[in-house]
Amino acid sequence: MSIKFEITHICKQSGARLGKLTTPHGVFETPIFMPVGTLATVKTLTPEEIKEVSEGLILGNTYHLWQQPGEQLVKKHGGIRGFMNWDGALLTDSGGFQVFSLAKMRDIKEEGVYFKHHKSGAPLFLSPEKAIEIQEALGADIIMSFDECPPPYETTDYMKKSVERTLRWAKRGKDALTTDQALFGIVQGGLDKEIRKYCAEKLAEMDFPGYSIGGLSVGETKEEMYEMTEYLNDIIPKNKPRYLMGVGAPEDLVENVINGVDMFDCVLPTRIARHGTALTTEGKVVIKNNIYAEDFSSIDPNLKTPVSKYTKSYLRHLFKANEILGMRLISYQNLAYLKHLMAEIRQAIKEDRLLDFKEEFYKKTNYPKV
Ligand code: GUN
Repeated sequence: MSIKFEITHICKQSGARLGKLTTPHGVFETPIFMPVGTLATVKTLTPEEIKEVSEGLILGNTYHLWQQPGEQLVKKHGGIRGFMNWDGALLTDSGGFQVFSLAKMRDIKEEGVYFKHHKSGAPLFLSPEKAIEIQEALGADIIMSFDECPPPYETTDYMKKSVERTLRWAKRGKDALTTDQALFGIVQGGLDKEIRKYCAEKLAEMDFPGYSIGGLSVGETKEEMYEMTEYLNDIIPKNKPRYLMGVGAPEDLVENVINGVDMFDCVLPTRIARHGTALTTEGKVVIKNNIYAEDFSSIDPNLKTPVSKYTKSYLRHLFKANEILGMRLISYQNLAYLKHLMAEIRQAIKEDRLLDFKEEFYKKTNYPKV
């Protein structure tokens, strides 16, 4: 097993975990947020910039790189790291989620999923073994089991069958693995606590080096999400890293760290950046808004970065004029802010004051509290 994880402190006030995650390409303090580089690029940013706005651990995606340019070409560069010239650590998702969120016309069978390409409509097939084979070629430090991510409000009967299959797929993926990449199991089960518990316990019996929580932030309410992570906190093995997949709104990071989550990823900061929404220490800023037309204040006066020297007025102009630099600068800002927020969260854990921090966070920002 090529990663190590240890808990270094538990916040006396909140129970949140501070940890140390050791990978072949870096040692990271957790909780950590990982920017998403779906197609071997964190959209609009260079690897040097990604280094500045991340802790050095980013995500890539099996489904996208398998389709374009193909995992074998990436492998010829020495994997995603060589391909995109990234010397940090990497995690890849299995493609399971994309099959369910992007693809048209899926047919889920025991052997895998038959589906159509999300753009061309070409017939495709992905299985637990194929997802491992692709992820071996992509060469990330941490990889994911192939899972089914069902909609949150499926029937109990469907959820049971789906989770049983996801468990069998997790075992098949584990058996297919030929490298020492760290393969995580993914806890599914929608909003049903009994099924989630069953899934987490069965995965724990298989002894994965880490556990992901999937199937959240897929249409349920924030209350439901927080309730589930709180519930799973006592069920997922404590001595392994827990990764909440696809969750990255600032308030979700704070709340879910309190519920025992160690790792996060999400396209949100970079996606909303490209539409002109900034995440700042004061909250969300929709930069195209008229109120910023003559606002000469910094986009984030409390966070010194290369972006903070630009005025809101200038950034608004870039978006109004459709200039690419606007997207780049806000992408940088949003990731820099999440990096800063996670550092603040870790400091608050160390000082046993994460609940106080949470209260301040909601007071100082416009991020929504449930
Ligand atoms: N990304 C966000 N949610 C999920 C999930 O449920 N499964 C996988 N594989 N990836 C995800």
